[in-house]
Amino acid sequence: MNKTRHTSTAKGLRPPEGKEPISIALRHERHNLIHYRPYPKQRRFHDVGGDHAAGPDCPPGCDGRAHRERMLMGANQSGKTYCGGAEVAFHLTGLYPEDWTGLRFVGPTRGWVGCDTFPNVRDGAQRILIGEPKLESEWGTGLIPAAAIVETQRSGAGVPDLLDHVVVRHKSGGFSTAAFKSYDQGRKRWQGETLDWVWFDEEPPEDIYTEGLTRTNATRGAVWLTFTPLEGMSRVVHAFIEDVGGLR
Ligand SMILES: Nc1ncnc2c1ncn2[C@@H]1O[C@H](COP(=O)(O)OP(=O)(O)OP(=O)(O)O)[C@@H](O)[C@H]1O
Ligand SMILES: [Mg+2]
Repeated sequence: MNKTRHTSTAKGLRPPEGKEPISIALRHERHNLIHYRPYPKQRRFHDVGGDHAAGPDCPPGCDGRAHRERMLMGANQSGKTYCGGAEVAFHLTGLYPEDWTGLRFVGPTRGWVGCDTFPNVRDGAQRILIGEPKLESEWGTGLIPAAAIVETQRSGAGVPDLLDHVVVRHKSGGFSTAAFKSYDQGRKRWQGETLDWVWFDEEPPEDIYTEGLTRTNATRGAVWLTFTPLEGMSRVVHAFIEDVGGLR
């Protein structure tokens, strides 16, 4: 099993007790990438995508080099999708924070965003990256800054308000793309592209995970997984936890 895996779990993901909730009035502004302030576990999750201080959540023998495969496991509403989405938005735009030490691409990137079904990818990852799916006037209020969104292509899959992909201006002047996929499309629809990154928002079946990882082999890209365990431990998650030697 690959020894570069890294796990991070829910403990510490939530803000400290008593911290003010995000007010409705500030919602749009706060969802923008510029205002993202990762909670400690979210920060650790980003950090281990680059050279980092090895910790108990790394596999034994970790030499502090970037983990190509990462997972963030957490309770409902603990900030998993927001964290995975922020990572996507940084790689699409190149607008990494000054103190960013995680995974970094120098130019525009191509990646896929997946969830179990199309409605779930729309209501989860798409909503957090782009804005409320049902209201096109709200597109651009998610983590990807409105000014960076060049094109939003609606899906022809018959799922209302689902995007097929989004084209994003990278700070270098080039263009990045992110396409929305579902696990229930089956493995064959996860073949054929060379990608820089893949984000699995919720646990994928093993064949889809392997296929997604394979898409990033040629670029030496990365994959990350954000999820709440729903029905026990899937094979993909079990492999991560075995590598690390238990939950951290
Ligand atoms: N670092 C952060 N700073 C401010 N708000 C945050 C942060 N992380 C998460 N949130 C907010 O917490 C809420 C829940 O986040 P998110 O949707 O990512 O949770 P989740 O764990 O994916 O939830 P679910 O279990 O429903 O999939 C969102 O409103 C999000 O904006
Ligand atoms: Mg979520």
